[in-house]
Amino acid sequence: MPKLIDETAMPRAWLRKRKRDEYYRAAKRTGYRSRAAYKLRQIVEKFNLIREGDTVLDLGAAPGGWSQVAKEIVGEAGTVLAVDRVRIRDMEGISIMTLDLETDGAVERLKEWAGGTVDVVLSDMSPKLSGNRSMDHALSVHLSGMALAVADQVLRKGGKAVTKVFQGDMYNDYLDSVRKRFSFVKGHRPKATISESAEMYVIAKGFRG
Ligand SMILES: C[S@@+](CC[C@H](N)C(=O)[O-])C[C@H]1O[C@@H](n2cnc3c(N)ncnc32)[C@H](O)[C@@H]1O
Repeated sequence: MPKLIDETAMPRAWLRKRKRDEYYRAAKRTGYRSRAAYKLRQIVEKFNLIREGDTVLDLGAAPGGWSQVAKEIVGEAGTVLAVDRVRIRDMEGISIMTLDLETDGAVERLKEWAGGTVDVVLSDMSPKLSGNRSMDHALSVHLSGMALAVADQVLRKGGKAVTKVFQGDMYNDYLDSVRKRFSFVKGHRPKATISESAEMYVIAKGFRG
């Protein structure tokens, strides 16, 4: 089982390593707000997940790398809705909401904001890591479950989703709950995922509605 890492609380040696990381450098060069942008690019290329004109809801979107990638693909005709519990700096052509999904009524607020159904739900939400592997895994499964609860309310029939989850003993149960909702489900680690990370992206297509 890979060790969980918290990219926000790492020592200097790790920060030096990150500066040498090809995706971190590429993100700096190209203006993506996160190296995570490359993970979504790789996922989209492999699974044809987002199309021009789509409406995409991005949960846990700060600082905004995934939303930037989604906007590039959906283009002028499409819509990207980015939400996070921390404030996201303005991004051209992207609607932003500051909202903690744990708060009462959060799903209803999102539904109202979306103003109808969306084609794709993305969730790169991560808990603040404690270093206790099983606790962090449980928190991550909880967040991914919340993303599914949002999908239940706003995703159109036949729609798609990507949810991040840290691997652990509840991973298979989580996959089962995704399978109940979608006709195609696959766990995937894009190349840009760092090798020490326990994260897995669950790709889901064909929302049963
Ligand atoms: C790994 S970051 C997302 C990076 C983003 N995909 C990007 O490319 O810039 C995970 C995000 O999940 C958010 N998050 C965690 N729990 C949340 C919650 N309950 N409600 C909303 N956002 C949450 C965090 O604030 C954090 O910004």
